[in-house]
Amino acid sequence: MSRLNVNIDHIATIRQARRTNEPNPAAAAVICELAGADGITTHLRSDRRHIQDYDLLALRQVVVTHLNVEMAATDEMIEIALRVKPDVVTLVAERPQEITTEGGLDVVANRDAVKNAITKLQAAGIFVSTFIDPDVRQIKASARLGAFQVELCTASYALLNEHPGDMTVRKTKEIASEIERIRTATRAAKRAGVGVAAGHGLTYRNVAPIARIAEIEEFNIGHNIIARAALVGLDKAVREMIEAIHNATR
Ligand code: PXP
Repeated sequence: MSRLNVNIDHIATIRQARRTNEPNPAAAAVICELAGADGITTHLRSDRRHIQDYDLLALRQVVVTHLNVEMAATDEMIEIALRVKPDVVTLVAERPQEITTEGGLDVVANRDAVKNAITKLQAAGIFVSTFIDPDVRQIKASARLGAFQVELCTASYALLNEHPGDMTVRKTKEIASEIERIRTATRAAKRAGVGVAAGHGLTYRNVAPIARIAEIEEFNIGHNIIARAALVGLDKAVREMIEAIHNATR
């Protein structure tokens, strides 16, 4: 059965909207683990727009399953990872103005930086995964450089599935061929001897066809779970505030 790592970045996004101390990503991580998540994923971005350095230390203290930290392959990030010692570092591409990670890391073009990161992190006992497009060249390059796993970027698949406001343009053929691309890449990764994870843009609505690719061992899913949590939790939260106000005048 595939593992689910919950990406808790957007708990920090809510906190950073007010620069306050709640909600706490470490508390969210504990709740995810209690609900059965196999691991916690988080992305320390260079611009620190959500997760902060101190969150990683807190997460390292409380996560008892598996902590996967996504980061760019820069000296600054490698140094932080060596201090925090997550179980896994996932190397990702990062562009300064992007709203979220836009696509896979070009391991072929960034060979030296990726090799440097893998060598240093592995020497400290940290496994390294690369977040790449479902592309055989990127898979082979990742395996050659010593990645233990590749995470296949499902952003293109997710984008094809989402047409807000116009469901008539749902692109069935393109979706099928994107699933096939991911399946082919998964098999190539297994042949290259690396584990396979998948993530980005996966939702309750679009996850099933990807989850049916048996060789995918792990999913990293964040935005859609946190978005749903905000809505399914809102009713209870409102009732609790009404009670707090009414209790004050009782
Ligand atoms: N995997 C990687 C490498 C990511 O960068 C992200 C987003 O931070 C995810 C998975 C999770 O994507 P989403 O939030 O769209 O589920």
